[in-house]
Amino acid sequence: MNWNNWCRQIHRWLSIAFTLAVIINIIAMVQERSSVGVGLLALLPLALLLLTGLYLFVLPHATRWRSARRSSGWG
Ligand code: HEM
Repeated sequence: MNWNNWCRQIHRWLSIAFTLAVIINIIAMVQERSSVGVGLLALLPLALLLLTGLYLFVLPHATRWRSARRSSGWG
């Protein structure tokens, strides 16, 4: 599996972890047991989602830039 696929897989599984963390956060809030630790449980996967997501976002553009450079004969 190449690097791009890895990033997509990580993003996919992180999205599940993040969703679970949000649900745990809501339960903690309703029970008035919210804390910094419970909050960070969701923040960490969200931060990683942002990084992997931005990578996935740039990917098709990067491919286009690379092929444009190649076809122009400059690269
Ligand atoms: C935090 C900023 C985020 C950014 C910048 C981002 C960006 C992206 C991008 C660019 C893609 C690829 C779309 C494509 O196929 O072209 C993607 C896929 C996806 N994102 Fe995100 N995302 C973010 C957060 C999230 C969150 C919070 C969730 C869900 C809790 C999520 C769930 C998914 C899923 C399930 C996919 C499909 C992955 C697959 O190919 O199976 N993302 N995201």
